[in-house]
Amino acid sequence: MPDSWKFVGAVLTAGLLFTSVHSHAGDGISYQQASLLAATCFACHGTDGRMAEGIDPLAGRSYQALRATLMAFRDDQIPNATVMNRIAAGYSEEEIDAIATYFSGLPAGRE
Ligand code: HEC
Repeated sequence: MPDSWKFVGAVLTAGLLFTSVHSHAGDGISYQQASLLAATCFACHGTDGRMAEGIDPLAGRSYQALRATLMAFRDDQIPNATVMNRIAAGYSEEEIDAIATYFSGLPAGRE
């Protein structure tokens, strides 16, 4: 396995461990917590929700579209998914809401 994927695995593991500690916070997820949840996605989707190649940007998509896509990955409804089905399975619905809110709030265009 290429080193870059080992790195991604390490980042993911760290992110999932971290979110599991924080996922039972109770009433709602703050913006700061949401940005930490979203940090799990940065390795593949870019820190600003945009990556140069391969994957369409997350930044600036509608909350509804992001939420629906993530829930579909979570429910294993997207054919040919490679990693997103497994990643999305790690989040509660409330956390997916928070992540969708976070990325939909990022500006769509490059500066
Ligand atoms: C290990 C790399 C990786 C990580 C981490 C990752 N993604 Fe993905 N993402 C992908 C790949 C690859 C695809 C294409 C679908 C597939 O192969 O599973 C994708 C597809 C998507 C799509 C659909 C894009 C489209 O154009 O339809 C969304 C939305 C998405 N990811 C959101 C997220 C969010 C939110 C997170 C963090 C919770 C995240 N991803 C973390 C690699 C990743």
